[in-house]
Amino acid sequence: MMTSPAGVPGAQQRDAASLVIEDLVAGYGEVRALDKVTIVAGAASITAVLGANGAGKTTLLRAISGMVRPRSGRVLLDGADRAGRSPEDMARAGIAHVPEGQGVIAELTVEENLRIGMMSWPGIAPRRADRAAALAEAYERFTVLADRRRKIAATLSGGERQMLVIARALVARPRVLLLDEPSLGLAPRVMTQVMDMVVRLSRESGITTVLVEQNARVALAIADRGVVLNLGRVVAEAPAGELAADVALRHHYLGF
Ligand SMILES: Nc1ncnc2c1ncn2[C@@H]1O[C@H](COP(=O)(O)OP(=O)(O)OP(=O)(O)O)[C@@H](O)[C@H]1O
Ligand SMILES: [Mg+2]
Repeated sequence: MMTSPAGVPGAQQRDAASLVIEDLVAGYGEVRALDKVTIVAGAASITAVLGANGAGKTTLLRAISGMVRPRSGRVLLDGADRAGRSPEDMARAGIAHVPEGQGVIAELTVEENLRIGMMSWPGIAPRRADRAAALAEAYERFTVLADRRRKIAATLSGGERQMLVIARALVARPRVLLLDEPSLGLAPRVMTQVMDMVVRLSRESGITTVLVEQNARVALAIADRGVVLNLGRVVAEAPAGELAADVALRHHYLGF
């Protein structure tokens, strides 16, 4: 198991977590959205989850974070199976889920949005000093948010909102970060900034990241491994560079 490097600003002191999904089956009523999906995400790694609309990417993240109850299979965090636990239990175990859509509360300030992230802090209510430290850490990492801390979120650009929802998830100090299409709707330059942040969270803070993306090219450029889903099944799973070099796979499933 890896630990965060010492002396890195904002580095987290907890060990990096491994996440293993085994034979996961989940769905909605008659719809089987995930059919025996197996994914191994090493500690502090970035795993890109790719595939067309309806492939099951969002359902996979929901099943990991407890928003959807798996019908069968395992969600192993550091080897302990947590499949079927509530979202609150999963958050307490260190899994943070950032859903699609840059969902900030537009009428609240940047800082108020970050404080909402702390309300779901696992365990007992955090002390004032801990909350202040978590905010300071967020502003150190996301300097653009520090400059805008008193502005209402409605005034932020799309990229700044995406940074804010990620920062809000991080104030709970998760060990696993599930990101659903963070690049959606962003200009290419801003998309690059978001991806750079994802890389830093993994490399500097040891956060194990599952990155769902429609933009396969961008995701594979930063990921360690990639998984391609199609109609709820894994059709390819390999180091990111291998998937990016597979012309037939790109043509059939990845759109680039
Ligand atoms: N709340 C729901 N109720 C019923 N069926 C759903 C629900 N959410 C998703 N589905 C179905 O489950 C399957 C997988 O959907 P999911 O949203 O996980 O795919 P996705 O890969 O995230 O797609 P997208 O790229 O469009 O976000 C699809 O067939 C979808 O229609
Ligand atoms: Mg989706």
